[in-house]
Amino acid sequence: MQLDFLGELKRTNTCGELRPADVGKRVLLMGWVHRRRDLGGVIFIHLRDREGVTQLVFFENSPGHARAEELRPEYVIAASGTVALRTPETINPTLPTGEVEVKVDEVWILNESKTPPFPMDENTDVSEDARLKFRYVDLRRPRMQRNVILRSKIAFAVREVLNARGFLEIETPFMTRSTPEGARDYLVPSRVQQGHFYALPQSPQIFKQLLMVSGFDKYFQIVRCFRDEDLRADRQPEFTQIDLEMSFPQQEQIFDVIEPLMHRVCQVAGFEVALPFPRITYAEAMRQYGIDKPDRRIPPMTAVDDLLPDLVTRGLPLVAIHIPKTGALTRSERDALKDFGKDRGLRVFDDPKRLGRDFPGVVEKIRERTGAVEDDLLLIAGWAGEPSGHRPEETVLQAAGQLRLHAAQKYNDRHGLLDPKRLEFLWVTDFPMFEWDAEDNRWMAAHHPFTSVHDEDLDKLVTNPARCRSKAYDLVLNGTELGSGSIRIHRKDVQSKVFSALGFSEEEAQKRFGFLLEALEFGAPPHGGIALGLDRIVMILAGETSIRDVIPFPKTARGTDLMCDAPSTVPDRLLRDLGIQLRVK
Ligand code: AMO
Repeated sequence: MQLDFLGELKRTNTCGELRPADVGKRVLLMGWVHRRRDLGGVIFIHLRDREGVTQLVFFENSPGHARAEELRPEYVIAASGTVALRTPETINPTLPTGEVEVKVDEVWILNESKTPPFPMDENTDVSEDARLKFRYVDLRRPRMQRNVILRSKIAFAVREVLNARGFLEIETPFMTRSTPEGARDYLVPSRVQQGHFYALPQSPQIFKQLLMVSGFDKYFQIVRCFRDEDLRADRQPEFTQIDLEMSFPQQEQIFDVIEPLMHRVCQVAGFEVALPFPRITYAEAMRQYGIDKPDRRIPPMTAVDDLLPDLVTRGLPLVAIHIPKTGALTRSERDALKDFGKDRGLRVFDDPKRLGRDFPGVVEKIRERTGAVEDDLLLIAGWAGEPSGHRPEETVLQAAGQLRLHAAQKYNDRHGLLDPKRLEFLWVTDFPMFEWDAEDNRWMAAHHPFTSVHDEDLDKLVTNPARCRSKAYDLVLNGTELGSGSIRIHRKDVQSKVFSALGFSEEEAQKRFGFLLEALEFGAPPHGGIALGLDRIVMILAGETSIRDVIPFPKTARGTDLMCDAPSTVPDRLLRDLGIQLRVK
C-alpha cells in the first residue's frame, strides 16, 4: 500500500471535540480507524483518538472516496473536511460527538495496521496473556484508556493536595541497600565492585526517615517500589507508593493529611466520601472481623461466649457470624460452610433451630445482639481443638473471620453487600509490634523494625513480645489494605533495643543499619508517616479487581513481561564483566 507523508498537515481538533456549534467549519482530524461501514456509495468511518470518536463520511464522488475504500481497522489516517449536522434519524446518542459528522474531501493514510489480535470494543472477552503480549493494543481499548487516565488524574490530585499542605516532593535512590519490608530484594550487580550488589528499594523507608533527620519535614514522593514476593491480584513486583513522612507528628495529624487527600482522590474518581474515617484498634478489628483489614460492607461478628458458655472451648472466643439476606440455605450449602470452618480448626453450629432446642431462649438473644432476622445466615463458630499460636484467641478469630468473608462472598449475588461502588474506609490502629514467624522460629516486626513501641508497652519488648503494641496504623478500604504507616523510633537506644528483640546481634544491626543508627545520634526529630498503594487505590476506584488493569505495563502472576519477554538471559560477556558465574538448576 502507498502510504502518505504527514508533510505539513496539522490537526485542528481531537476526535472528541466537535459539536453542532462547529457546523460549517473546516477541520483536519487524525486518529485510528475504529470502525468502517461501506454502504455502497457512502463510506462511514468512526475515527478514534484518546478523546473520543467522530464519524467521517466519504461520498461516492468525493476525492477521498477511493482512498477510503482501502481503510481497515486501526489504520492511522488524517482526514480533512467540513463539519455537518447529522439528520435527526442518524444522530448517535451514545457519542458526545454524535450530532455531527465530518464530510471528508481528502484523506491521508499515515500508517497501516495488521489485523489487531483482538477487537477494540469492551465487550469481547480476551485472554489476559494476549492482552499482555499486545499491551500497546490492549491499552487502546476504552476501559484501559479510562483506567490509565484516571491514574494520571489521581496522581495529579495527590501532588496538588500535598503541595497545598506544604509537602516537598523529594526523590530517593533506586540503587541502594536492602530495606526490610518483609519481601526478598531485587539485586543489581556492581561491575566496578565485583561481588557487590545494590538492592532495589522495597520502599523509601530509611531514606525518608533520614530526610527527617535532615530537617525536610513534610516529604512526599510518588515512588516505584520493588519486592520479590509471591504475586496476587493486588500485588506486583514493581508497584507505586504515595509515600510521605512528617516530623513531630501525632498519629492524628497524619490521619488529618491522608483523609482530605483520599477525599479529593475519590472525588476525582466520581465518589463523595464522608470524613473523618472511622477508627478501630487492631484488637477490636480482630474481635469484630477476625482480620486486620475489615470489610465493613459486611456486618461484624459478635461475641456470644457469655450466652453459650457450654460451647466455649478453653476460654477461647465464641462468635456469631451474621450474613444478611442469604435466604434459607440447603443442607449441602450449610455443610459446605461447616467444612470450610472445620478445615481451619473451627467448630461451626449452623442450625439455629437445633441450638434453640438445646439452649432454649438463646437464639432470640443472639438475634437481638446481631440484628439477624429469619432470612439471614447465622453461624456460631468456636474452636475445635487445642489453642495454638502466641495469641491463641487471634488464631480462632482469624479462622472465624475467614468463614465470615467466605460466606459473604459466596452469597453476594443474594445480598449484594459487596457493591464496589460503596466505599467503606477504616483506620486500624495499635497493631502488635511483633508477629511470630513459625518457619524461622522467631519474632518478626509486624510492620517494619523502625516502628515505635506503644509508650505503655516498652517493657514488654523483652518480657512479653506477643502483647507488645506498636504505633502502627493501616488505612483499609473495602477489605483491602490501602496503606500502612507508623510513628517511628527516633532514639538510638530504643532502636537498638528493638533490633535486639528481633534477634539481630549488635554486629548484625550495625552492619545492616549502622548508618541509620548513627543518623539517630545526630539530632533525629520524632517523626512518622505512611505509604499508600497507588495501584490499589486506582484499582478500587476504577472498579477493577486486579491491579494489573490499572498498571500500563504490568507483570504476569509469574513476574514476567510477556511483551518484551523479561526477565531474559544475557550474553556471557556481560556476566563476565560483572564477575558473575551462573549456577542455574
Ligand atoms: P507497606 O509494606 O505496608 O509499608 O506498603 C505500603 C502499601 O504499599 C502497597 N503495597 C503493594 N502494592 C502492590 N504490590 C505490592 N507488592 C505491594 N506491597 C505493598 C499496599 C501497602 O499498604 N515503608 C512502609 C510505609 C511506612 O511505614 O510509611 C511500607 O512500605 O497498598
